[in-house]
Amino acid sequence: MASNSLLVRPQKTPLRGTITVPGDKSISHRCVMLAAIAEGTSTIRNWLPAGDTLATLEAVLALGTHIEIDQHSPQAWDLKIEGRGLHSFQQPSAPLDCRNAGTGLRLLAGLMAGQSFPVVLDGSAQLRKRPMRRIIDPLTQMGARIRSSDGRAPLHIEPSRLVGTSHRLQVASAQVKSAILLAGLYAPGETRIHQPGPARDHTERMLSAMGLPLEEENSWIILKPAGLEGRQMRPLNLTVPGDISSAAFPLVAAAMIPHSQITICNVGANETRTGLLEMLRAMGANITVQDERITGGETAVDLTVHFDELHATDVAGETVVRGIDEFPIWAVAATQAAGESSVREAAELRVKEVDRITVLAGELKKMGVSIQERPDGFAISGPIRLHGASLASHDDHRLAMSLTVAGLAADSPTLVEDAACARDSFPDFVQTMRTLGADMEWVE
Ligand code: S3P
Repeated sequence: MASNSLLVRPQKTPLRGTITVPGDKSISHRCVMLAAIAEGTSTIRNWLPAGDTLATLEAVLALGTHIEIDQHSPQAWDLKIEGRGLHSFQQPSAPLDCRNAGTGLRLLAGLMAGQSFPVVLDGSAQLRKRPMRRIIDPLTQMGARIRSSDGRAPLHIEPSRLVGTSHRLQVASAQVKSAILLAGLYAPGETRIHQPGPARDHTERMLSAMGLPLEEENSWIILKPAGLEGRQMRPLNLTVPGDISSAAFPLVAAAMIPHSQITICNVGANETRTGLLEMLRAMGANITVQDERITGGETAVDLTVHFDELHATDVAGETVVRGIDEFPIWAVAATQAAGESSVREAAELRVKEVDRITVLAGELKKMGVSIQERPDGFAISGPIRLHGASLASHDDHRLAMSLTVAGLAADSPTLVEDAACARDSFPDFVQTMRTLGADMEWVE
């Protein structure tokens, strides 16, 4: 049987060292899809070969795209993707399996809506529970024909002619925005999107790098599709920056474990993704940013964090959107902060891989944490002495890694069961933490 549980021992020594984290998951999904419909061969370096993104790579291969893969390291692949234009995909012989990847499925739905053949998008039991109306409705408004059972995967997408339309998003979701933009590439006329908050903008940046800049008008973004004005989609040439959502785990670990000091090199610092840095700084964390540079239209930096005493903070509004994936690990930091930390306006956490409010509260309580669940967030009183416990990941990669970091600050060993899902986004999480001196290992 493969090792699937993580045993973590209390961290008695400071975490020290310099590391990198694997490539950004959001960017890795998008560059494979967009490169496949570019006109020419794209070169992608430091691509993330994790569970979620491999499902997207396999889907694009099943659509007939030719990809040369250089697996030069287990956590960073280089890809050469032969794009043959918007209409080059072939009908796949089976449903496309997106596994646990909400981003993969929702973005592919946008891309598939404008094809001339039927396709079925499916995924794991976990993905089949996640809401898909948020993309089915706007895509249907554009003319897409999508059948589902009660707004959940599998999605049966039939060929149809799309038209550009205007959409006012109800939630600040980059997945919904990107699904509409990808479908918009196949629609004559303009596609206009109004977003209520700063959802991550990697799709817009990539389209711009490919020669299709979006226009902005008040809070609307406007896509004029590829066929218009003789414009073509140029291939991509990019190095994927490290994923700030993966850097979050060693970052919080070092902020919490006394006398730690670590540096994480080449971390993506797109401002639609840096909410956690602001939340931690507001708590007194000592984080410095060096060597800011632009790679492939995205900002990358080196981050250094020193341990310092943390105090409580309240989070709401735009910061929530800009750090939406980081609340499980932020909650762990909050257990070590003096006072009551709280997050509001974060009801989206309930429709992530799992209901991250209920599940997080349930697991942290097993370690002795005083956490109060609210409809749109939670509150944690700290600092608290964490107790080692036997915990469940609920097959949620970010929960598994967050609980593991909590285990480092506990007074006795912690076992995180079913933690192999960490590989959905951070294949070498354990190895990376061990490089810093963390005492953790896979057990059966
Ligand atoms: C993502 C967008 C976010 C985020 C997810 C990745 C993306 O989801 O939580 O992990 O790559 O577009 P929403 O768009 O649903 O907020």
